[in-house]
Amino acid sequence: MTERYVIGYFREEKDLLHATGEARRRGYRVLDAFSPYPVHGLPDALGLPPSRLTWIGMWAGIIGLVLGLVLQSWTSDYDWPLIVGGQPFNSWPVFVPVSFELTVLLAGVIGVVALFMRSKLWPGRAVPILPHITDDRFALAINLVDASADTEDILSLLRASGAVEVVQGDEMALSAPLERAAGQGNSLFYRLAWAGVVLIPIVTLGGLWMARRDLTLPNIVVPTQMVDSPASRAQEPNAVFANGMTQQQPVAGTLAQNQRFFPYKSNDADRKRAGLSMTNPFRPDPESLKHGKQLYDTFCMICHGASGGGDGPVVPKFPNPPNFRSKQSLRLRDGEMFHTITLGRKKMASYASQVSWDERWKIILYIRSLQKGSLSPAPAAKPAGGTRQAIAVR
Ligand code: HEC
Repeated sequence: MTERYVIGYFREEKDLLHATGEARRRGYRVLDAFSPYPVHGLPDALGLPPSRLTWIGMWAGIIGLVLGLVLQSWTSDYDWPLIVGGQPFNSWPVFVPVSFELTVLLAGVIGVVALFMRSKLWPGRAVPILPHITDDRFALAINLVDASADTEDILSLLRASGAVEVVQGDEMALSAPLERAAGQGNSLFYRLAWAGVVLIPIVTLGGLWMARRDLTLPNIVVPTQMVDSPASRAQEPNAVFANGMTQQQPVAGTLAQNQRFFPYKSNDADRKRAGLSMTNPFRPDPESLKHGKQLYDTFCMICHGASGGGDGPVVPKFPNPPNFRSKQSLRLRDGEMFHTITLGRKKMASYASQVSWDERWKIILYIRSLQKGSLSPAPAAKPAGGTRQAIAVR
């Protein structure tokens, strides 16, 4: 049995709303209302229940959110933890952008797909479209279910509501004035678009299959310069640098962090200069003296002797160091001693690598305290045999 319709076309949305409400009030079966854009109040006028699409959108969004969070915390905390700027692996603030994107992506895409499926709109389906309803007309279709429907009354209702055109007929007759989607099914663009949709995946997958790439291997790298840069060993000769060495000297005048500037050379004139310009920043308080004695006994006593008399256990195997209480040593300024400890002097080597800058000053404090002893050389204390033996063994 063919169904019969009456369709009224309107220019204004308020006319459509009015006609829809009026038709339902009079008990006619409204098939559907058509408009080029969403008309506020139309779903209510049609008596449609609230759309269930919002629920689909919400659940799709929740799935996207959970997916984003799980994906990221799994990769960055469990599967492949990377230290980035010393941050914790499972640091949620960095997960926000991706989780947000996945939320709106799934909500959007699934929402649209669900809408199309529910409306039975999928590619290739030819849908009859009423003329002008995607452009500048609104339409209301009323179903003539049974013979009792008063066609004349419906027609006058539509006209009274402001319909600019009224059409009636059965299903077939109705289809006649309908445009078949502007003939899009046959246009060249439409065909090309469809060819692309079908061909692109086929060509991609086919190409992948034909290349037979081992997907467990690393990807092909096209610009290789950065990957293949030569790695030289520190001590290797190197043609790149003018001096032919791989490891380069620091630029002249470079100071390492916390390194102090010591602008003196290893000669007597500079020792004098150091003596005149450097002063001991430490006071001879018990703390500094204790530390100084500890260091002196460790590094200096072996030659200079426990009381500074120049009679340490290695003497006389090692040429006599000066007696710190001699006139000549007593005249030494702190800076001159510092110069000697830092750069060494004649038979005495530099102690800069063993005692730090501050430690040198504390040792000097301790030497000063030793110098307060008697001027005469301390009696050559017989070194304990054990010490001698220990040295001999070494
Ligand atoms: C291997 C033995 C030896 C050790 C260890 C040693 N010195 Fe000396 N020191 C000497 C000799 C030898 C001289 C004399 C150098 C010279 O001929 O000017 C000397 C000279 C000095 C002078 C200059 C004295 C003067 O009157 O000119 C000072 C100051 C000094 N030493 C401090 C130290 C300090 C501080 C230490 C420990 C960090 C130390 N030395 C460790 C052997 C040593």
